[in-house]
This record gives sequence, C-alpha cells and structure tokens, in this order.
Amino acid sequence: MKLAISGKGGVGKTTFAALLSRTLDEQGKHVLAIDADPDANFAAALGIENSDKITPIAEMKDLIFERTEAKPGTIGGFFKLNPKVDDLPDALSVKMGNIKLMRLGGVPKGGGGCICPESTLLKALVMHIVLARDEVVILDMEAGIEHLGRATAQAVDKLIIVVEPGRRSIDTATNIKKLAAEIRLENIAVVGNKIRSEKDEQFLNKHLSEFEILGFLSYDDALIEADLEGISPYDVNSPSKAQVEKMISRL
Ligand SMILES: Nc1ncnc2c1ncn2[C@@H]1O[C@H](COP(=O)(O)OP(=O)(O)OP(=O)(O)O)[C@@H](O)[C@H]1O
Ligand SMILES: [Mg+2]
Repeated sequence: MKLAISGKGGVGKTTFAALLSRTLDEQGKHVLAIDADPDANFAAALGIENSDKITPIAEMKDLIFERTEAKPGTIGGFFKLNPKVDDLPDALSVKMGNIKLMRLGGVPKGGGGCICPESTLLKALVMHIVLARDEVVILDMEAGIEHLGRATAQAVDKLIIVVEPGRRSIDTATNIKKLAAEIRLENIAVVGNKIRSEKDEQFLNKHLSEFEILGFLSYDDALIEADLEGISPYDVNSPSKAQVEKMISRL
C-alpha cells in the first residue's frame, strides 16, 4: 500500500501521517515513512529520538555528486537523469522498530521547476520507493504534490488530503485534486481533522461532496500538548487512535 498525504499548511498532515504509520506498525506492517516536506517534522511526530539531527538527503552533497555525477547547486550542464537509488532506502533510513524513515529535504525552487541534480535524485528515489518497495509507504508531503511525477503517481494507491472545517483548506483540497488529475492520480480521499462538533462534520460533508471521505479526527488538546512537548501523537491518550484504526480498516 502506497499512500501520499497532502493538504493545506497546518491542517494536521504530519500528525495524521504519524498516527497512521504507528498504527500500521502496531498491526505488524513494515512502514517506510517518507518526509517529503522541506520543513520536516515527520520523524519527531513518529517519536524518533534526536530527529533534528537527521540529515536530509537533499543536503547530502557527496551522495548527490556520486549518483548524478554533477555538483549540487548547479543548474544545467550534464548529469545522470536516472541515478542509482535502490540501495538508499535501506542505507539512509533511520529505524525505529519496524518503521523506517527517510527525510528528503528541500530542493532549490527555480521558476519553471528546477532540473537540478538534487531534484533529479529525489524524484528518482521517490519513484523507486513507490514502484519497487514492498513496505507500506507513507509520504508526508507539503501542500502540493510536487514530488510525484506522472509515473510515480500511477503507483500511488491513494492520495489522502487532510482538511479542517474551513473554506481555505477545502479550496486547497480542490486545487490539489486538479493537480492530481493532471498526472492522472484519481484515487483520492479526504480526512477531516480538528472536528469539534457534529456541525463541523456536516460542514465538511456538505462542501466535500465530490470527494470520498475516509474519516474524521476529533479536535484534541492532547495532540497539541504532544506536539509542544515533542512527543508522538500516538504516545498520548487520544480518541484519534481509534479513529485512525477505523480509517485503516476502510483502506
Ligand atoms: N486533531 C487535532 N486536534 C488538535 N490539534 C491538532 C489536531 N491535529 C493536528 N493538530 C495540531 O495542529 C498543528 C499542526 O499539525 P501538523 O504539524 O500535523 O500539520 P501539518 O499539516 O503537517 O503542518 P505543516 O503544513 O506545517 O507541515 C500541530 O500543533 C498539531 O498538534
Ligand atoms: Mg507537516
């Protein structure tokens, strides 16, 4: 199962990705967690210690040079467009039990999309992970789907867009859906997060009628506390765990 998670900034993508990964791990699945957000905190949300010390792959200059035969930071020039990446998930992931985490990091953004050694390596890596790894793959992405090329998108089983009760996150979900359609990623579901009342659920049901709704997660102060204290949302007492279990059984 390969799942990509997206949505507007701050809606709870990383919280959901961490709850999902830890629950699947608890169920005995092997999880490969990919932090594809340059502003990374998936590792911390999983409960990995010293997560701030994990070097993002985009900053591994020697590796990028070795694999693409071009110096990171250069644009144009010649470099390998299909660098070797199949050994990287095992070599570079940080392990916590059966969960493996990789932190991709950010690549410099050029005007029309940068074709640089860093982004070429990351794209190849994400494609390999989605196409060839046999773990459950959970991709925590920024508010877009930039890491997914057309070929990779075809192999993603589901794009899960996290929304909260509010117009802006719904607009973002609609935009993400459009971008996804362009790369023919059509299996999309939404998760409604930070639900305070029946009214919130009704609001989302009403405005997301064109989406499959995978489930809802209650608003819970314990999750904010966990975030403030650097604890995984999975390691606090929260109704969200049972809610995520329900979603997994639907997947
Ligand atoms: N169900 C919830 N109830 C209460 N707070 C929540 C809930 N889900 C997430 N939060 C809080 O919302 C904040 C943002 O969550 P999170 O970092 O998971 O969002 P994100 O979408 O990954 O953000 P970013 O776009 O910055 O990556 C955090 O403080 C988190 O604890
Ligand atoms: Mg996040």
